[in-house]
Amino acid sequence: MKKSSVVSRSGRFSGGPAAEVSAFSESVSFDWRLWKFDIMGSVAHARMLEKIGVLTKTEAKAIRHGLRQIEQEIAAGKFKWHAELEDVHMNIEAELTRRVSAGAKLHTGRSRNDQVALDVRLWLRQEIFETVVEISALQSALVELGARYADVIIPGYTHLQRAQPVFFAHHLLAYVEMLARDSGRLVDCLHRVNVCPLGSGAIAGSTLPLDREFVAEALAFLDFKNKPLLTQNSMDAVSDRDFMIEFCAAGAIIAVHLSRLAEDVILWAGSEFNFIKIADAYTTGSSLMPQKKNPDVAELTRGKSARVIGNLVSLLTLLKGLPMTYNRDLQEDKERLFDTADTVRACLRLMAAMLANTSVNTAACAAAARDPLLLATDLADYLVKKGMPFRRAHHAVGAVVALAEKNGRPLDQLTLADFQSVDQMFGADVKEVFNLEKAMTRRTTVGSPGTKEVRRQLARWRKELNPYPPAR
Ligand code: ARG
Repeated sequence: MKKSSVVSRSGRFSGGPAAEVSAFSESVSFDWRLWKFDIMGSVAHARMLEKIGVLTKTEAKAIRHGLRQIEQEIAAGKFKWHAELEDVHMNIEAELTRRVSAGAKLHTGRSRNDQVALDVRLWLRQEIFETVVEISALQSALVELGARYADVIIPGYTHLQRAQPVFFAHHLLAYVEMLARDSGRLVDCLHRVNVCPLGSGAIAGSTLPLDREFVAEALAFLDFKNKPLLTQNSMDAVSDRDFMIEFCAAGAIIAVHLSRLAEDVILWAGSEFNFIKIADAYTTGSSLMPQKKNPDVAELTRGKSARVIGNLVSLLTLLKGLPMTYNRDLQEDKERLFDTADTVRACLRLMAAMLANTSVNTAACAAAARDPLLLATDLADYLVKKGMPFRRAHHAVGAVVALAEKNGRPLDQLTLADFQSVDQMFGADVKEVFNLEKAMTRRTTVGSPGTKEVRRQLARWRKELNPYPPAR
């Protein structure tokens, strides 16, 4: 008996597909990684078939035993995958049936269409949990780097021009906030992933009295009240890939966040900024220029965001215009999905490790942060506090800046007479405005880069990311 006739092509076909067709249409080379979930689903399905009397107790036991054996062999890398058997589902079922005659009953009331939807949902559920854990590891790396250099002030930039001073930690915490939303999006997506499609069959369910609730419970597709979560329309269930698109969209947003972080890191590590130093283990050299130390981890993270964005677009395009219900096109979903998960997780891990091995050049940061122009807005606020309307204050400070430029002097080196030549409202206390440390304490509103507020935020995130620190 040829392998390909074991399950899918029995009866109707006079022979196997042409060799090229088999090579063109196989998916086992990439969907084999679903094996654990395929077996999990089959065990639950077999238990249900036993419950409704399709399988005897002995048959169900033999199937479970056979599946466990196969599971161990796959885990040990001893299982032989056959491309002619197309996909992970057929490979496992064919091997089971070869060993256990009752295996031929396992596919009762089931189709690969609901099976593949089930397997991917089970796989993605775990993937989401693990990704969320990796996101919080990166958040911790950011918080710890910020905490290690809690006193360091750098220029904040808009238009890549120096704008206002911020604590280095405040800049890093911006990414911690982004990543928190990323976790939230993944958890939200989980609500749509965590629904059991099994029992939908190929398109139209089954005439057998399948116990869908039983299967859903066995596979922990449960709501907060422990009620089973079932897809409610068989046609939708076998052709729905929205949950994958959502994951890939959430993944694309993460990738974009990581790319922005990577860009900041690349700028900071460059000799023009020189704010940070990435440890040797996380940089690479040049094959030609002996002096180079390049921030490749960050550059690759920035670069890889392109494919993660591409994966989302691929999935959307794949679904667009696809008639109901399952079409083989849908097999193209998995490589894109897997690639998004793998790429995003690798970037999260590598960026976290790189940041844990990064030090801050405090002298360069201090030199940049000393630029008095960063406090031009504070100077306007100074006039506002004396009662001047902000628009007038903005204009006056603009004139002072122009005067400093004309005199070739830093803003804080102008004399009181210089200031007063622009506006009489400037007083002797104007010098105080340029005390950077003091200036940072004046920022007190929630979310501002003030001395107290940034420390409060660091402490809040530390607690949030590590709610149960080990007892000392
Ligand atoms: N390998 C297929 C996929 O990944 C499994 C479902 C096949 N169903 C079918 N009717 N050919 O989508």
